[in-house]
Amino acid sequence: MTSMSADLEYVTYACADRIATITVNRPDKLNALNDAVMADIDAAFAHAKADADCGVVVLTGAGEKAFVAGADIGELATQTVRGGKAKSLRGQAVLNNIENLGKPVIAMINGFALGGGLELALACHIRTLAAETKIGLPEVGLSIIPGYGGTQRLPRIVGRGRALEMILTGKPIRPDTALDFGLVNRVAPAEELLEVTLKLAKAMLGNGPLALAMAMESVLRGTETSLEEGLRIECDLFGIISSTDDMREGLNAFLEKRRPDYKGL
Ligand code: COA
Repeated sequence: MTSMSADLEYVTYACADRIATITVNRPDKLNALNDAVMADIDAAFAHAKADADCGVVVLTGAGEKAFVAGADIGELATQTVRGGKAKSLRGQAVLNNIENLGKPVIAMINGFALGGGLELALACHIRTLAAETKIGLPEVGLSIIPGYGGTQRLPRIVGRGRALEMILTGKPIRPDTALDFGLVNRVAPAEELLEVTLKLAKAMLGNGPLALAMAMESVLRGTETSLEEGLRIECDLFGIISSTDDMREGLNAFLEKRRPDYKGL
């Protein structure tokens, strides 16, 4: 088990068996995202990126009730035009860093994921959800709009019509609807959520880390462009992966009927 040397105030980091758990830790405010929490999240993910022991990240929230109940409404209430834009840009940058981590990130949504909390989960690659949990983008009810990527990532994941219904009504959706929309990958009773999440993490960990990184890059970059350009990105990355020691190790291990020993090289 390793943890971060520089302790953060609002986020904990612990890595065991190559799975790093990053926990947003402000339970008295349902883990709401103020500027300090966002800075700590960014620092924890930078640590995960550099941590050679970490192969997959699980992101979750402290306490019984919430994953993250949104951006901190107290901070939002004092913002100006310039300040609002700057906050949105900073938040988007933190979430972009998660999406582009180069290691799979699973959002384990253990309670309320509202507003910025759902947007945080949308920047992760995979989402698991506790049954009975409400998730949604209630921003318009406060007369703001999602500003941490929600208007962009949600329609890309669930389609424009479903995203607009969620964004314009501001109403949370039920777990079975989230599953039906493809917004989450698994729903499980709260007491089984960790086990279900770790099972997914372990299924990924056995694979080549460079292959995971390049497969994610191909999907993320390729689906933001034309099919022709996306296929070009894929074949370029296929060429790059073909130059790696890990590719030779993976293929030889199969031929030699043994488990591969990947080095990330
Ligand atoms: N920002 C700041 N503080 C928040 C917060 C947020 N987004 N969400 C919850 N909190 C705080 C509450 O103010 C309260 O603090 P207090 O004890 O000092 O009064 C504490 O967290 C507990 O929340 P509470 O509302 O008492 O819990 P609840 O179980 O009754 O309700 C929610 C839970 C999630 C339904 C409710 O907290 C809520 O609606 N939060 C805002 C959700 C939202 O609109 N998010 C999008 C923001 S853009």
